[in-house]
Amino acid sequence: MSSNSNPDLTCIILAAGKGTRMKSPLPKVLHPVAGRPMIERIALASQAAGCGEIRVVVGHGQNLVRTLTEPLGLLTFVQKEAMGTAHAVRAADIDSIEGDVLIMNGDHPLIQASDIQNIVREFRDEKCDLAVVTAVVKDPKEMGRIVRHHGELKAIVEAKDASSETLKIKEINTGIYVIKAEYLKDILPKINNQNSKKEYYLTDIVSLGIDEGLKIRPITAPAHVAVGVNSQQELAKATRSVFKRKIVALMESGVMVIDPRSTYVEDSVEVGPGSVLYPNCFLRGKTKIGSFTVVESQAFISDSVIGDSVQIKAGSYLELVQVHSKCSVGPYARLRPETVMHEDSHVGNFVELKKVQFGKKSKAGHLTYLGDAEIGEGVNVGCGTITCNYAVDRSKYKTKIGNNVFIGSDTQFVAPVTIGDHAVIGSGSTITKDVPARALAVARGKQFVKENYVPVEDEKEKES
Ligand code: UD1
Ligand code: MG
Repeated sequence: MSSNSNPDLTCIILAAGKGTRMKSPLPKVLHPVAGRPMIERIALASQAAGCGEIRVVVGHGQNLVRTLTEPLGLLTFVQKEAMGTAHAVRAADIDSIEGDVLIMNGDHPLIQASDIQNIVREFRDEKCDLAVVTAVVKDPKEMGRIVRHHGELKAIVEAKDASSETLKIKEINTGIYVIKAEYLKDILPKINNQNSKKEYYLTDIVSLGIDEGLKIRPITAPAHVAVGVNSQQELAKATRSVFKRKIVALMESGVMVIDPRSTYVEDSVEVGPGSVLYPNCFLRGKTKIGSFTVVESQAFISDSVIGDSVQIKAGSYLELVQVHSKCSVGPYARLRPETVMHEDSHVGNFVELKKVQFGKKSKAGHLTYLGDAEIGEGVNVGCGTITCNYAVDRSKYKTKIGNNVFIGSDTQFVAPVTIGDHAVIGSGSTITKDVPARALAVARGKQFVKENYVPVEDEKEKES
């Protein structure tokens, strides 16, 4: 729970809808926006804003949705059938709530903790009974329209039920409300389903609240709060906004981004000042990048820790790895999980490392596969080296290479095998036995030369 915890504020997130317009088998609220599911974004914002308790209403695809919401500590309530937003709120056992209730749709992924704090502060400062969060947008599409009379809020009218005049209104309902629990308990049972969709609309809370004489206020939110996701196009648009927000923050902190429009950094990623991001790189998850590091085009880096002054060259793919300072990777290298490249080491083109400790100042310049291996410091790994780590018994075995070993090109290590410090492996060797320190090992067929092996067949050839 955050330091500004607020036990008098219960948050209800509606996430039971089918999301029909997404046309996807995945429940709508699980669709990721810039790498993080919508519902997670909203839950994290609510937690950071200090909501005392967060209740999520699930229904469609509930088993999948729960796998995400329960580990986040959200209380789950089931709406058996999606019969509208008001029906969904009723499923959240509102009789057990005291204090203020913040209701949010699960499909407004751009909302941030500060937005929620501002909304709740305004609701409380103005001593409201009910607040509806609205925004003025260029293209209101199917959003509910805010109908005012002489400036006073009168009703929310759903697009499907609106007249052509009402559809011209640009002020929309964001689907966020704050209401005192006692009024929610009173009004909710009064909402009916007399509308074009035959659903229980939460939006009717406004006109019913007016009838009850509640103090109701519209609160105007910034445009990003109004961004709702109901279709794949809207999902892509929301993702675009989150990437843009992150890139702007990175540039403000001193990261050089050559083309902000084509650089993709998830908001969980950290990049140090003085680093450079080339167009079309993609940084994901818990990735942390130090200072003065260069990430070139088409590099994809997921959940990895990269030090200072590292070169990640074009086309490299890194996942769950550590690359210490002053290393260089690629172009076209693949670093797979549990690989650690120690300081000042180098991996070049078409090199794949999996579960490898790659020692300081060691080099594997070209066309190499190292898996389940410990490579010491100052090792030269020749072109075409392969650790044969996977045996016929379907188990993985380890290759251990000491410090300052020189591995000639086209060497295979049939694991398990250990090579001592300063050993030299001749090119083209298939190493099946351990090699002691400072030894030379050559394991290849001897060169055989038979002179005049090819007969001279005709005069023409004889002449040439
Ligand atoms: C709703 C509002 C609309 C507002 C818009 C903002 C209503 C009737 N309309 O429309 O005024 O402008 O949000 O985005 O409230 N849900 C349930 N159970 C249900 C139905 C929906 O949990 O039975 C959940 C959905 O999972 C979703 C949220 O409620 O997270 C909103 O539902 P959605 O169908 O997207 O409503 P909109 O048509 O967008
Ligand atoms: Mg919606």
